[in-house]
Amino acid sequence: MTPPSDPPLSKDGLEAYWMPFTANRQYKDNPRVLVAAEGMYYTRDDGERILDGTSGLWCVNAGHGRTAIAEAIAAQAKQLDYSPAFQMGHPLAFKLTAQLADMLPGDLDHVFLTNSGSESVETALKIALAFHRRRGEESRLVLVGRERGYYGANFGGISVGGIAANKEDFGPSLKEGDLLPHTHHPDHNAFSKGAPGWGSHLADVLEKIVEKHGGKTVAAVIVEPVAGSAGVLVPPKGYLQRLRDICDRHEILLIFDEVITGFGRLGSAFACEKFDVMPDMVTLAKGLTNGAAPMGAVVVRSYIYDAFLRTDTPGTTIEFAHGYTYSGHPLACAAALAAQDIYRDEDLFARASEIAPYWEEAVHSLKGLPHVTDIRNMGLAAGIDLEPIPDKPAARAFEIYLRAFEEGLLIRTTGDIISLSPPLIIERHEIDRMMELLTTLLKQAA
Ligand SMILES: Cc1ncc(COP(=O)(O)O)c(C=O)c1O
Repeated sequence: MTPPSDPPLSKDGLEAYWMPFTANRQYKDNPRVLVAAEGMYYTRDDGERILDGTSGLWCVNAGHGRTAIAEAIAAQAKQLDYSPAFQMGHPLAFKLTAQLADMLPGDLDHVFLTNSGSESVETALKIALAFHRRRGEESRLVLVGRERGYYGANFGGISVGGIAANKEDFGPSLKEGDLLPHTHHPDHNAFSKGAPGWGSHLADVLEKIVEKHGGKTVAAVIVEPVAGSAGVLVPPKGYLQRLRDICDRHEILLIFDEVITGFGRLGSAFACEKFDVMPDMVTLAKGLTNGAAPMGAVVVRSYIYDAFLRTDTPGTTIEFAHGYTYSGHPLACAAALAAQDIYRDEDLFARASEIAPYWEEAVHSLKGLPHVTDIRNMGLAAGIDLEPIPDKPAARAFEIYLRAFEEGLLIRTTGDIISLSPPLIIERHEIDRMMELLTTLLKQAA
């Protein structure tokens, strides 16, 4: 695909855009601009192709430029551009939610639509608090997250989030949730292929949190089954089940944040299936539309929905005072339905599972290269820890990110961790190319 022939952006032309989670000054001194995308590749504004090693931001699971998705969005824009989200419905919202309810296991059967992962998390936390109220347990107000957990950028999400830099600017208005310890301990589980054997006991800290607060106070625990943003932290064997058991003992809701793990990243549709652990709620976004339109979802088990609906209040009462203007936006629904068709027709989740062993060997081939202190993987995701440059945290990994982009590869870094999560359509030769380039860059890195 030929990139648009617009002249490059001038420095002045960059100023108005306050870019999210970006070092604006550094970026604007040396901007990186993408102008097109197709399949496994982005196109830069200078016409060079960039191999997408991160599915955009963990979302373009079926690869870029899917015509069926573009056509579905265009057709829907002509047919019904917008329909009020409150007290009104349109066919695609019902169709999509029924389809998601079918895809999710067990009685994860009711779907609340949002516009992002952050909104999905806010929604799930609010559902948890309101659910316990419906059961007459108003005392359950404690929300528990996990160190190194990322649950989006909104207030609820950062209150249970475990990335300090995302909270420290926002002062005490925020009610801090309790945090479970993270599970990444290279002294015990460095260079694990798949789930590490050590660490399931870390779930037991939940018992201590329950004890600390006492009685019926803990409402919900939210975890990413595999933590993504903090660098692909794979849960120890048995850890998630142990969390489930403790939640059951204390009637605490277990929320799996599957914004990254949903839609095939781990080689199955959802992580709850992969680990065979049933959460009470699942938050989704990203791959839901293949990244082609903003959309998120919260899928809840039947008894949660029933607790809201089976009430003795009059039928005219709004059961859950929550929602967004763009919940179930027709264009996003059209994109999501088309994306789900592609996943199904091309069996992409199974494809991810088939190629995962090759991926595992490839990423672990970087072991022994300069600066590499740990590598871990699951499905089509991997995290690579680098030794930081003394007194310059994150500098080494970011330099590799910049060099990779120059050389035609998009990776992602968090601190001194490189995260990789390519589209599920990646071919072996593209995996080889990623690893060859990373090998060169790691050898060259300061
Ligand atoms: C696990 C998880 N939850 C929530 C979010 C927030 O999603 P969004 O950026 O769509 O708000 C992210 C984003 O990376 C995520 O990884």
